[in-house]
Amino acid sequence: MIGIIGAMDQEVHILKAEMDVEKIERKASMEFFVGKLQGRDVVIVKCGVGKVNAAVCTQIMADCYQVEAVINTGVAGSLRAEINIGDIVVSTDALQHDMDARGFGYEPGEIPLMGKKTFEADKRLRRLIVETCRKVNPEIGVFEGRVVSGDQFISDGAVKERLVSMFDPYCTEMEGAAIAQAAWLNHIPFVIIRAISDKADGSAQMDYAEFEAKAIQHTVRLLEAVVPAL
Ligand code: ADE
Repeated sequence: MIGIIGAMDQEVHILKAEMDVEKIERKASMEFFVGKLQGRDVVIVKCGVGKVNAAVCTQIMADCYQVEAVINTGVAGSLRAEINIGDIVVSTDALQHDMDARGFGYEPGEIPLMGKKTFEADKRLRRLIVETCRKVNPEIGVFEGRVVSGDQFISDGAVKERLVSMFDPYCTEMEGAAIAQAAWLNHIPFVIIRAISDKADGSAQMDYAEFEAKAIQHTVRLLEAVVPAL
């Protein structure tokens, strides 16, 4: 069983509509859609926005569905000039940019007492997803790099620059690193797939509203093609 998590309805409703639903289970105020997508056993959930929702959802996927891999799909703000709206970023690793215990001598993003700040995405999943993306979305760029997550919508050029200089990231969003950490704690491979909806600067709010739906089409097309091969 593969777990697919999106924060918002827009990010998963097309996939849910396409799957053969066997059952819908409610846990922690989330609906877990269990069934088959392109013949593959999946559980698909809208977890809600932010790291807490994302982590709770991932833990339920581990405990109740014994998922063998978790895929986080959705949109993100670009943190690199060459990554444009509509392009896709596949995570190499993920980090929580708002984890900050520098006052205790830890590095930015480092989780105290865990000796960790980044969580590595699964290499086999990454490779398969990037290859498939080049086939099914040939008109867009696909990039592999670090995803940074925090409980903040980044829409200020100065905040963006701070993230860029501290973490060398490719894109930012609000769930991926929490899913990554929860997956790591449960020894489950994960990967984050994000389509760029905005540039995480002063134009982010307007761009987000305009480009969200189009960006999501690219992740949907990619997941439809990749799920049967997993
Ligand atoms: N998701 C999409 N765009 C984002 C941004 N600019 N900041 C945080 N999450 C996002």
